[in-house]
Amino acid sequence: MAAFDPSLTTSNIAVGRGEPLVVLEHVDKHYGELHVLNDISTVVNRGEVVVVIGPSGSGKSTLCRAINRLETIDSGLISIDGDKLPEEGKQLAALRADVGMVFQSFNLFAHKTVLENVTLGPIKVKKMKKAAAEELAMRLLDRVGVANQAKKLPSQLSGGQQQRVAIARSLAMNPKLILMDEPTSALDPEMINEVLDVMVGLADQGMTMIVVTHEMGFARKAADRVIFMADGKVVEEATPAEFFDHPKSDRAKDFLSKILAH
Ligand SMILES: Nc1ncnc2c1ncn2[C@@H]1O[C@H](COP(=O)(O)OP(=O)(O)O)[C@@H](O)[C@H]1O
Ligand SMILES: [Mg+2]
Repeated sequence: MAAFDPSLTTSNIAVGRGEPLVVLEHVDKHYGELHVLNDISTVVNRGEVVVVIGPSGSGKSTLCRAINRLETIDSGLISIDGDKLPEEGKQLAALRADVGMVFQSFNLFAHKTVLENVTLGPIKVKKMKKAAAEELAMRLLDRVGVANQAKKLPSQLSGGQQQRVAIARSLAMNPKLILMDEPTSALDPEMINEVLDVMVGLADQGMTMIVVTHEMGFARKAADRVIFMADGKVVEEATPAEFFDHPKSDRAKDFLSKILAH
């Protein structure tokens, strides 16, 4: 697979690298009695790749959804590129366009072709002309290695191919940041690497990424930082080498012993 060429994807990346892009300050959220996000504060800098890891139910997906404003928070502050997350309306639509999201379950439109899935956002949201959107989409599909699938429906593709289409779709919006929530968890084992390779390519190219994953190989290769969550809290934050080789908390040691036992 060809390496990513930044000029083909987004002009936002690598601009002002190292400056804060996503800021969370004392973010709290409850679902009834459940304290699902408990005083979360962290900063993700431009160009940084952060892997979020932790037991099931620890709040990782809720954190992603809060950053993308798919979920409200009770208190605290989340800002992206200096702007506080808007409540609703046009600003919220603009924010969503700035933040790409890749889900475990691909979430492609089943009745649209691969090409249409990728061009939809640029045409509807960015008001791009169809021909230009298709050209962009084909370049991105080529980059993720599925250009020859463009005319097919998602159901005609393998899971790994569908997830690569989902990544191309998020890139087509020229996002400032991509959130990925367990992007390889629904894949058959033999397809995991083809998706991880695309993710590593994006990371190498300077895309800001927050990735929920238990793929330690990806974390070690691509992540600048690992955030370990448990019970709605950030329990540890460290480089991948520090975290995986010298976890500090009993919670992290216990968690790692379980995932390493597989
Ligand atoms: N919409 C919801 N209503 C009530 N509880 C929820 C909702 N979404 C998630 N939860 C609960 O919040 C906790 C954290 O969920 P989630 O963020 O999905 O965790 P993770 O992604 O780390 O597995 C879980 O206990 C889950 O059952
Ligand atoms: Mg989850």
